[in-house]
Amino acid sequence: MDIKLIQIILDNLITESMRDFANTSDLKKNRLRQLREKDLLDSYSPNQFKSKLNLVNHVKSLNILNKDSEIVIFGCWYGSILVPAFYDDVKLITAIDSDRRVILKSREIYKDYPKVDFIEGDVFDKRIWHRFKEDDDWDLFKRCNLVINTSCEHMKPMKEWGPIPEYKTPWWKRFKNTHFAFQSNAMFDIPTHTNCVNNIEEFKKQLPENAEVLIEDEVPDERGTRFTLIGKMCN
Ligand SMILES: C[S@@+](CC[C@H](N)C(=O)[O-])C[C@H]1O[C@@H](n2cnc3c(N)ncnc32)[C@H](O)[C@@H]1O
Repeated sequence: MDIKLIQIILDNLITESMRDFANTSDLKKNRLRQLREKDLLDSYSPNQFKSKLNLVNHVKSLNILNKDSEIVIFGCWYGSILVPAFYDDVKLITAIDSDRRVILKSREIYKDYPKVDFIEGDVFDKRIWHRFKEDDDWDLFKRCNLVINTSCEHMKPMKEWGPIPEYKTPWWKRFKNTHFAFQSNAMFDIPTHTNCVNNIEEFKKQLPENAEVLIEDEVPDERGTRFTLIGKMCN
């Protein structure tokens, strides 16, 4: 892990307004900004380290990445933990999130790190994938070695990604030699969680039909178990 990057991240986490907040009793002051900073801080919580490192260690145990590899992250949030964990190992990380504030903040944090590209968009919206289209084939699909999604509980099941009736080849089948690493959880009480699962078997039912599971694991959390599924897309 890169120490300079850790310093940049901490400088972004512990901002002036956060210091002000700690020193003021006026909770209404800059409330929205405080909530955004809390969101960024949450992405580095002990539970986040526990669950992300579970995924990172399992992926690394498979030895599937090298300096020519490309990773795509769905629902990347601030790229916290995952980007520093894989940055040195690969050629490019493309990180996609539908929240503009998240993308702007992430671009600021990683502005001196050219091997990570933050893109604003809904991963289910075909327009964001068209920006990668260099010829009749979808270039990103040919290049991508690993798709990570630790936000599965926030979106439709991954098997629904790529509107099948509209395309001759479903999107998951366009990948060549590509692995996936997904996480979801049973934290049903969190309002933004629209697609939680009760257990790993339920989570497996959300996988695309050409997904072969190589590793499955569970991470305990006081708010509900997190589930990890790692495997490869078969053609
Ligand atoms: C709270 S965060 C991350 C939660 C996740 N459990 C984790 O620890 O990484 C969820 C992120 O998914 C993003 N998101 C949700 N649905 C999305 C979609 N369809 N396309 C892109 N990003 C999405 C949200 O904007 C948010 O930044």
